[in-house]
Amino acid sequence: MKVLLCYFSGTGNTKKVVDKYVEAFNKNDATVDVYKIEENNFNYKIEDYDMIGFGYPVHAFNAPSIILKFAKTLPKVNTTKNVFIIKTSGEPLKLNNISSLKLTKILKRKGYKVTNEYHYVMPYNIIFRHTDNMAYKMWQAAENVVPIDCKEILDEKKSLLKRVFLGGLLAWVFRIEFWGGRFNGKRYKVNENCVHCNRCVNTCPMHNITIENGEFHFGKNCIMCMRCSFYCPRNAIKIGLFEKWKVNGAYNFNNKNDNEEDKHKKYCKKSYIKYFAKCEEKIKNAQVGAATEPSHETKDDDVEDAVNA
Ligand SMILES: Cc1cc2nc3c(=O)[nH]c(=O)nc-3n(C[C@H](O)[C@H](O)[C@H](O)COP(=O)(O)O)c2cc1C
Repeated sequence: MKVLLCYFSGTGNTKKVVDKYVEAFNKNDATVDVYKIEENNFNYKIEDYDMIGFGYPVHAFNAPSIILKFAKTLPKVNTTKNVFIIKTSGEPLKLNNISSLKLTKILKRKGYKVTNEYHYVMPYNIIFRHTDNMAYKMWQAAENVVPIDCKEILDEKKSLLKRVFLGGLLAWVFRIEFWGGRFNGKRYKVNENCVHCNRCVNTCPMHNITIENGEFHFGKNCIMCMRCSFYCPRNAIKIGLFEKWKVNGAYNFNNKNDNEEDKHKKYCKKSYIKYFAKCEEKIKNAQVGAATEPSHETKDDDVEDAVNA
């Protein structure tokens, strides 16, 4: 199978999951071409691929606008092209399922069909900072579930997320980027802690940050991905109305640290417990399935037995 996987990742969570998918596809002898949407130089031929994948972080229960804009530029296809969607989000609420409705609609009009959808919980890059322990647990879950989901895609087993009542309307109401990017993005400010490393300028996916007369200027094309403020080494960027929700600094996904105090342990507690339990169940079922599936050796032995009989 030949796969084209197109993705956007603001602060690296989605990329981490996408990389794991590439590894899993390759292990199963599938070829994957990866397209980073922000590079804006798409020159792949859709007809060369058996399946197209989309990866994105959920932004206020929606797909980021960069994803939707990209989907609109894809060519129409004459024979149905199957699509899988990979999303990451900070909390496991079912409401996040609605984030793919618009994307699915855009793709459908062009002859693409979403057959598989997967949601991985990864630490928040806005609202509050998850503990390292939580980030560790999230990554452990995602890392172990991705190969199972990938196998499902390759085996052409359809898997879609549950629908939400009035999902389309809710997604429309929540589309924060629509106004947030334009209105709030322009209100970003850089404070005196800035050491002019220009990391924000050089890595903004929308090229929305410029320096004019030594002053930082934030334009109207912000998509609120948080890359600039999340990775600012001096935590010098103020993110307008959302300053209180800012998260600064990369997560350490390898630090199990059980002793860290979790100030938000009550937040969506039931949803997280349910999510981790579901992942564990999936992993266990896959292990049981693998153990009961006849291996190649067994099949060969069976043939030999039959010949000898
Ligand atoms: C503007 C914005 C809105 C977000 N909205 C949601 C949301 O509605 N639900 C959610 O669970 N996480 C939300 N998040 C958190 C991200 O989806 C999550 O941290 C994701 O894994 C980030 O992926 P990335 O590192 O690839 O950008 C939001 C993040 C941003 C920046």
